[in-house]
Amino acid sequence: MKILLQILILFSVLSVFGQTNAKENLAPTPPMGWNSWNKFGCKIDEKLIRETADAMISSGMKDAGFIYLNIDDCWMADKRDANGDLQADPIRFPNGIKSLADYAHSKGLKLGVYSSAGTKTCEGLPASLDYETADAKKFAEWGVDLLKYDNCNNQKRPFIPRYQAMAEALRKTGRPILFSICEWGENKPWQWADNVGGHIWRTTGDIRDNWQSVMRLLDLQVGLEKYSKPNAWNDPDMLEVGNGSMTDAEYRSHFSLWALLNAPLFAGNDLRTMKNGTKDILTNREVIAVNQDWGGSQGYKLRDDGDSEVWIKPMSDGSRAVVLLNRNGSDIPVSISVSPKELGLSEAKKYTAHNLWTKTNQTVTKNLTASVAAHNSAMFIIKPAK
Ligand code: GLA
Repeated sequence: MKILLQILILFSVLSVFGQTNAKENLAPTPPMGWNSWNKFGCKIDEKLIRETADAMISSGMKDAGFIYLNIDDCWMADKRDANGDLQADPIRFPNGIKSLADYAHSKGLKLGVYSSAGTKTCEGLPASLDYETADAKKFAEWGVDLLKYDNCNNQKRPFIPRYQAMAEALRKTGRPILFSICEWGENKPWQWADNVGGHIWRTTGDIRDNWQSVMRLLDLQVGLEKYSKPNAWNDPDMLEVGNGSMTDAEYRSHFSLWALLNAPLFAGNDLRTMKNGTKDILTNREVIAVNQDWGGSQGYKLRDDGDSEVWIKPMSDGSRAVVLLNRNGSDIPVSISVSPKELGLSEAKKYTAHNLWTKTNQTVTKNLTASVAAHNSAMFIIKPAK
C-alpha cells in the first residue's frame, strides 16, 4: 500500500512538472487566420473586428482553415486602469476585448491580441514588460487564444528573460494561448524561441506590400528550415495578398512560397471587400494543404539560377511540392526545369505532376518544366505515376 502511494505521488509530481514545462499543442500545423496590421494599422475598432469575423465565414476563409482573428497594435487605451490592468480603448472598443472573444468563439473562430515585451508597444501604448502576470491573467480572463508579443521599447533588457516571463505567465493562467514571438529575427530566435515557449517566431522585420519586400524576406529564410517543426514555426511575417500594390501573379508567388515554407498564414487584407481573384489565391485548398502537411522539413531552396529558382518541400506521402519561381520582371516568360532525381523522388519510368494553380496534370518522364511569367510561380505536387 505504502509503495503504491509513493508511486502515485511520484506520478503526480512528474505530471505537474511535465505540464508546467510542456508547450501547449496549439500549432501542430502552422496557424492560419487574419491580422489587422498590414491593411489597417492603428485604424481599428470593434466594428471592423466583428465585420471581419463575419467575412471570414461568408468568404469561405474559415472553411479553408483561417481560424485566428488577430487584433494587432492599438487595441489598448493609452493608460492602464485603476488596478494597473491593460484595458481596451474606450472609444474604439467600448465593449472590450472579451465581447470580441465571445463573438469570435460563437462563430467557431479564435481571438488573438497583441502586446510588446517592452514598456510600450511600437505605437507607444502601454505594454507588458514587468506586467506579464497581470496582463496574461487579463488575456486569459477575456478568453484570448493567441498573443503576438512584439519587441518595441524593450529597454535593451536581455531578450530571453523578457519572452520567457510572458511564456510562463501565459502557461500559469491555465488557458491554452498560442504564443507568437515577434522579435524580428534580431537575436536568431530560431535558436531559442522554441525552448522559451514560442509556437511561432518572426524571422525578419516587417513585410511591405511590394515585390522587393517579399523577395527580401524570402531570401532571409534560406537555411532556417532545420529549425522548424510542429509547434515551432519560422514566421517570415504576415501576408500582403490582396492589399493592392502587387499583381495577382506576385500575390500567387507570395502565397505559394509562404505555404511551402510552413509559414503561419495570416491574411492581412480587407476581407469585407475582397476581390474574387484574391479569394481564389487565399483559399486555394491544394496550396494550403502543402502548408499544413508536415513531411519532416519546411520547404527550402533547392536551386538558384539567378532569377529562376526551384523551391521544394518533401510531403508526408513521399511526393514533393515544388515551386518554380521567376523573379525576373521581363515580359518574356522563362522556362524552368527540375528533374525527379534532383527532387529526391524514388526512381520511376513516369511521374505525374499536378499544377496547383491551373489544376492541370502533366506526365513527366525527364524533367518537370514550366514556362513561368514575370514574378509568377508554378506550383506542383509531383510523384511517381501509378
Ligand atoms: C512591429 C511588428 C508588426 C506590427 C507593428 C505594430 O513593427 O513587427 O508586425 O505588429 O509592430 O506596431
